[in-house]
Amino acid sequence: MSGAERSTSFTSDRDGWDALARAVGQLASAMADTQGDGAFSGVATEVLAAQIAQLDPCPKEPVPFEEVVGEVALVLGTHGVNTTSGTTLAHLHSPTMTLSAATDAVISAANQSMDSYDQSPAATLVEDHLLAWLGGELGMEPGCAGVMTAGGTGSNVLALTLAREAAARRVGHSTVYDGLPPEASSWRIVTGEKSHFSIQRAAALLGLGHKAVVPVASVSSGAIDLEALDVALEAEAQRGHQVIAIVGTAGTTDLGSIDPLGALADRAEALGAWFHVDGAVASAFILSDRLAPRLAGIGRADSVTVDFHKLFWQPIAASALVVAGGERSFDLLRVPSAYLDREEDRAEGVLNLVGRSLDTTRRADALKVLVGLRTTGRARFGAMVERLVDLAEATAGLVESTEGLELVVEPSSVTVLFRYRGEVVDPEHLDAINTAIQRSLFTSGQAVVGRTVHDGRQVLKFTFVNPELDLGAVEATLELIASTGQKLAH
Ligand SMILES: Cc1ncc(COP(=O)(O)O)c(C=O)c1O
Repeated sequence: MSGAERSTSFTSDRDGWDALARAVGQLASAMADTQGDGAFSGVATEVLAAQIAQLDPCPKEPVPFEEVVGEVALVLGTHGVNTTSGTTLAHLHSPTMTLSAATDAVISAANQSMDSYDQSPAATLVEDHLLAWLGGELGMEPGCAGVMTAGGTGSNVLALTLAREAAARRVGHSTVYDGLPPEASSWRIVTGEKSHFSIQRAAALLGLGHKAVVPVASVSSGAIDLEALDVALEAEAQRGHQVIAIVGTAGTTDLGSIDPLGALADRAEALGAWFHVDGAVASAFILSDRLAPRLAGIGRADSVTVDFHKLFWQPIAASALVVAGGERSFDLLRVPSAYLDREEDRAEGVLNLVGRSLDTTRRADALKVLVGLRTTGRARFGAMVERLVDLAEATAGLVESTEGLELVVEPSSVTVLFRYRGEVVDPEHLDAINTAIQRSLFTSGQAVVGRTVHDGRQVLKFTFVNPELDLGAVEATLELIASTGQKLAH
């Protein structure tokens, strides 16, 4: 069947699997031919939109696979953002480990769903095993358990849904069965002002509203200011509000800062509040002896978000929520179902992961993570994470020695905030220049650099997620930014 792959063939026998291997081989080869070294082609949106609009999603007659291979390479290679490029520096969206990506293709083909044991027996046990191990690595007590989700946003929403139910149970109520109790209008979620917007999104989805999220001021690194936290907690108590959750962040999105997790655990414990740690970014530090101490206290959390698709280099989607267990377990939300998660299964010790999940049908994503970790090994894995942190530190030094650039904040983990400064004094003009730098590098395809707001001003951001990146490439991009800024300033 070589050369004539059809979408109507399935992996029902060796021929089917061979066809998959050939098809993946053709796609990979086309990607290798088109990807190049750059971050992005810089194609104009109108040109790209016109090309995409020409693709009839379901033509009357089938399109030969060879032709579609070219289309895939056009979308992901020619005009995609190359996560492996030395000039892709904006986001937390990493290159993926090849062996995990290959496993991902097989996971897709095998297509076992994680909702019930009778759909994915071994993969269910793999997910449970991997995430119990993860909880142990985080320092959580035996009995902790986890579930994979599509992303850090989903993990955070699930964590706060559990927190809300735990708060309701304490007043003899259940949000699962009765909806929100009258007290809910006074429920508050206290978190750092730099925490991820998914905390607000969770509050909105949970019927508490953004007003329920109390943002606490940070110290210059971006981590929660503990004095401000205590003032905020006291003020909430004075207002008669009940703090149902304290959310710490291990690796904030822009600054990479890590909250003082042990101190947050103390505050949460004293209040009987749920303690959630959003470790989407820096949780990978647990596998480095040098970096793990920065997460001290994470093991005391009631729940922790870990994103494997960030600093664990796994294909999207791969996030996990690990929950402490006992009274703070996924059972808070479990809704048994006669066809999927029966009480009799539970009695017989059969694990149906739908009982932990917001999704029902779900991919066997834990397996690719297991493959990635096992084939890398702890020592190499830890060294790869350390390399990124070292790169961020070295880059901060380079920014300071590059004429025209200014470091905005000392890096805390894998991000560096800086801006073009030159001789410009007007803050509005500086904002306009930095905005234009980021835009022009993107639209010319020269580099994909992050841009955010810090202390009310436009700043540029490098996010280091590519363990193969070398400092020379970073230095060249900094020089490009400085020279682009200089041109724009005149
Ligand atoms: C700290 C933090 N938490 C949560 C998220 C959301 O993760 P995801 O994009 O996987 O939903 C992000 C995304 O960048 C993040 O930086």
